[in-house]
Amino acid sequence: MFNQARTVMVIGAQWGDEGKGKIIDYLTSEADYVVRFQGGNNAGHTLVVDGAVYKLHLIPSGVLYPDKRVVLGNGMVIDPEVLISEMNNFESKGMKLNMLISERAHVIFPFHIIMDGMIDEYKGGLAAGTTRRGIGPAYADKAERSGIRIIDLMNPKIFKEKYDKLFDLKRNALTRLYQQHITLNKQDIYKAYLNFGKRLKPYVGDVSLEVNEAIKSGKKVLFEGAQGTMLDNDHGAYPHTTSSNTIAGAACTGVGVGPKSIDEIIGVVKAYLSRVGSGPVPTEANQRLGTYLRERGQEYGTTTGRPRRCGWVDLVQLRYACRVNGLTALAITKIDVLGGLKTIPVATKYKYKNTILHELPADLEISRHCKPVYQELPGWNNLTDKDFQDIIQKGYKALPKKMKDYLAFIADATQTPIRLVSVGAERKATITVD
Ligand code: IMP
Ligand code: MG
Repeated sequence: MFNQARTVMVIGAQWGDEGKGKIIDYLTSEADYVVRFQGGNNAGHTLVVDGAVYKLHLIPSGVLYPDKRVVLGNGMVIDPEVLISEMNNFESKGMKLNMLISERAHVIFPFHIIMDGMIDEYKGGLAAGTTRRGIGPAYADKAERSGIRIIDLMNPKIFKEKYDKLFDLKRNALTRLYQQHITLNKQDIYKAYLNFGKRLKPYVGDVSLEVNEAIKSGKKVLFEGAQGTMLDNDHGAYPHTTSSNTIAGAACTGVGVGPKSIDEIIGVVKAYLSRVGSGPVPTEANQRLGTYLRERGQEYGTTTGRPRRCGWVDLVQLRYACRVNGLTALAITKIDVLGGLKTIPVATKYKYKNTILHELPADLEISRHCKPVYQELPGWNNLTDKDFQDIIQKGYKALPKKMKDYLAFIADATQTPIRLVSVGAERKATITVD
């Protein structure tokens, strides 16, 4: 996939959980670096290698290849306790970490986690249904310039200066404004975080410097997006979004690389759609078909275990994703899940009152009440084991004709070529499209 590209980026084109982890895993074999640039432990994927299960939320999945360098960019918000437990889990299996953490990434504290849940609950119908990991409040502090960065944990004096202000501010907000009784101990947290700083120190450095030098010296860099386009804080379904920019451009600010250093931008698209969290999803399926997709696709959140809301491919939304990310190619995942349906609805436009919409509305009122206009595409039978063997051997041409038509319909409507198709959970079940 890299071919002439120095850098490849993998972005979620829908609502997150498109199967980016699998596509990244596939591409990592060609990369020297795997770099995350936004989000935190709201993300998550499970990887199974030789029977061992790895649940990753912060460390990029490239860590499973010993010769790759994995990087956590400045655009991330990092819960050091979670990161250290992932590190410990790795090292306890005898693996060596080849990892760089940005000194400029922001730190999540226990009060962020408390606030996250409280604010989301308070919002009622405007809530995003967050993962309760403290992501939003940590980014809010960053924007407000009260945040504490990874490097601060390594400087007890600076850390204390900033932490004194931040903790008191948060305690006052929690107790006076939100009328919460909190039991957080200021001194205990300070000491614990200083210790976290000691543990992380050997891995902390200047991410922008190293990644730019790597690109210059001909190394291959894979940028790993988290969440998805509809969760982008500017371009997604605001306010039902996450608190970071999740689109391709976020890698520039979240790592410190120029826009021209991004060569390929692959949008990962699930062959249907899933959403975990609240807010309007125009193409959400009815109860019966939603359950069908959820059970066949095992659509339960990796981070929170919540059942995902399932539905159909939305071309209004996908065309938008192609545009705001500048996608150069698509990777379609989990197409096997659609087997056995007589027809498959795909939304081509929306209807609001008597108006046809071809673009995503920004107005929440319209997002809530617009209806998808579907085109029904012919389905195909379930793939048998033999079909599966055939596909792995012969590649794309062995896909059922109607499945190829379905893929062609998406490529045509989005004016974006499909380069990869994933037809099953296993690593080898990913095929390239020539
Ligand atoms: P937060 O990122 O925890 O603040 O959650 C904000 C919204 O994004 C909620 O609707 C979450 O369910 C959703 N979300 C956050 N991270 C992910 C992810 O990795 N996959 C899917 N949805 C996510
Ligand atoms: Mg996920």
